[in-house]
Amino acid sequence: MNTILNVDKICKRFGKNKVLNKVSFKIKKGQILGFIGPNGAGKTTAIKLILGLQLMDSGEVYINNYNIKKDYENAIAKVGAIVENPDLYLFLTGRQNLRLFGRYYGNVDEKYLDYLLEKVNLIERADDKVSNYSLGMRQRLGIAVSLINHPNLLVLDEPTNGLDPEGIKDLRDIIIKLAKTENIGVLISSHNLAELDGFCNRICLIDKGQIIKDINLDTLKNSEKPVFFIKLDKLSKIDKYLVKGDKVLENGISVSRSDEDISKLIKELVLDGYNIYEVRRELLSLEEAYLKIMGGNL
Ligand SMILES: Nc1ncnc2c1ncn2[C@@H]1O[C@H](COP(=O)(O)OP(=O)(O)OP(=O)(O)O)[C@@H](O)[C@H]1O
Ligand SMILES: [Mg+2]
Repeated sequence: MNTILNVDKICKRFGKNKVLNKVSFKIKKGQILGFIGPNGAGKTTAIKLILGLQLMDSGEVYINNYNIKKDYENAIAKVGAIVENPDLYLFLTGRQNLRLFGRYYGNVDEKYLDYLLEKVNLIERADDKVSNYSLGMRQRLGIAVSLINHPNLLVLDEPTNGLDPEGIKDLRDIIIKLAKTENIGVLISSHNLAELDGFCNRICLIDKGQIIKDINLDTLKNSEKPVFFIKLDKLSKIDKYLVKGDKVLENGISVSRSDEDISKLIKELVLDGYNIYEVRRELLSLEEAYLKIMGGNL
């Protein structure tokens, strides 16, 4: 039983506005899923349905195999979440906040509080009031709070909002470590692909309530090699350099290679007397899909 979260064709309308249309995806143990889409795409709504904070019109959500509608208590028992902003008491210290939230779940193990504060790099500031924390520190404390019940699924709605690059990096390092050491699944939403780059093992792009791309980045590296266009002075005998899927174009070739293999190919072509006028790396289909929905730069 590796699947922690199974979202199956969830739909939601607000009046006439179809906000989610058959959204499906899964998260496994240790997997970080980036849920990416522009403002209004439906990310927060999907997250609220997953957490049972709003009712779905149709579809199912299973967390640890428990149906969120039929078996809410069991489904939510091992979930930690921050939706929009972490709920923190500003007049209490970081440690006091953690202790307070921990009491919801019974006796608080002080060692576990230290462990969590350590995990989110707040141990030095644990006894300062949260009102004196920076935004990044509050987000990190929010993550510690969401881990208090030993979840195996962590749901974070736009945790990078408002953070500077350093804050984003800290958060990224913490989440990567958590996914690895605690073997938990993480659902993390953002409107910025670049922010989650190199950090998620799976990306779901959502636009206007529909998943338009669902890519496993572990396999992307192998299955979706970058495509390069090579402009050449001649195309005679070029076939011997091509493999399945490569194309001969009017003034050059289009080939799919790893970065290492493309440099080998270029060397071979030059040694064989071809003149190369241009080598251009085309976008991966994930980047293309992202640009299409965002209409901007990466
Ligand atoms: N309670 C509500 N009543 C009516 N419409 C709503 C409600 N909540 C969300 N919506 C609409 O649903 C759509 C999706 O909103 P949602 O907040 O899920 O998007 P999002 O992807 O989280 O956007 P953002 O990046 O801005 O946070 C929007 O058109 C929004 O106006
Ligand atoms: Mg949102």
